[in-house]
Amino acid sequence: SLLACLLGAGAAAAEDKLTIGFSQIGSESGWRAAETSVSKIEAEKRGIDLKIADAQQKQENQIKAIRNFIAQGVDAIFVAPVVATGWDDVLAEAKDAEIPVVLLDRTIDTKDDSLYLTAVTSDTVHEGAVAGEWLAKTVGDKPCNIVELQGTVGSSPAINRKKGFDEAIASHANLKIIRSQTGDFTRTKGKEVMESFIKAENGGKNICAVYAHNDDMQIGAIQAIKEAGLKPGTDILMVSIDAVPDIFKAMSEGEANATVELTPNMAGPAFDVIAAYKKDGTMPPKWIQTESRLYLPDTAKEEYERRKGLGY
Ligand code: AHR
Repeated sequence: SLLACLLGAGAAAAEDKLTIGFSQIGSESGWRAAETSVSKIEAEKRGIDLKIADAQQKQENQIKAIRNFIAQGVDAIFVAPVVATGWDDVLAEAKDAEIPVVLLDRTIDTKDDSLYLTAVTSDTVHEGAVAGEWLAKTVGDKPCNIVELQGTVGSSPAINRKKGFDEAIASHANLKIIRSQTGDFTRTKGKEVMESFIKAENGGKNICAVYAHNDDMQIGAIQAIKEAGLKPGTDILMVSIDAVPDIFKAMSEGEANATVELTPNMAGPAFDVIAAYKKDGTMPPKWIQTESRLYLPDTAKEEYERRKGLGY
């Protein structure tokens, strides 16, 4: 009968529905919160059942979540690895269970690339280089003491954003990093560390530029600089990475000078890869690279409005 047919089709559709587990790091930054929201939106668009586990910044929680997803027999696992090392064992368990793993926004150190299907990330070394090149060009021949706010210790973006920036300024003898410390990708720690830099560097007067590995730490630094009676964006040049709405607001108010965009939509391409892989075994490239674009104050106002309107 027609009813049986419709019920049958419904059952088939339910069977086809992919269930994907996402081990997310936490919500340390505006960018991270946006990535989580976009993942939900993109899953819904595709009719995917997305289960998100928040690891509250702890690798052990991520490992537990991955083991839970394996036990549940999900169709695929997404991981945003908080740090780069220590994943081989748990990913081997996923491989044994024939569950494909996709790395989102951060990479891992492993000798065995077969432990994951693909990685959807930006070139984080390049992001650091874009920031460094912008600074070198902006400063010209003048001497410039830089302070650096690093991301989470041992995370791939912190390691690579430092490397790319260091390489970009290496040939400019007038640019020097005088202090560098982790602010763990958070506003609160970014502010705290910047306060200590200001104290140590003549109330901030020795500092020419702040390079922050993400916008949230930069926003913390902006607050610290203002509280010290200096003008961020004018007295001190401010360059960072992510392109979240708040940094565009700061740029439109003259308090930040440049940001390098990291798209929060890492899950969209990852869902498509999994759908194709599940359908007929299509193998994706090992790396799906997202774009890293430099944004300056000239477009800040419209970018802020546009991004606010996206609702994540
Ligand atoms: O892995 C991407 C980084 O993690 C983002 O730049 C930062 O904001 C986040 O916490």
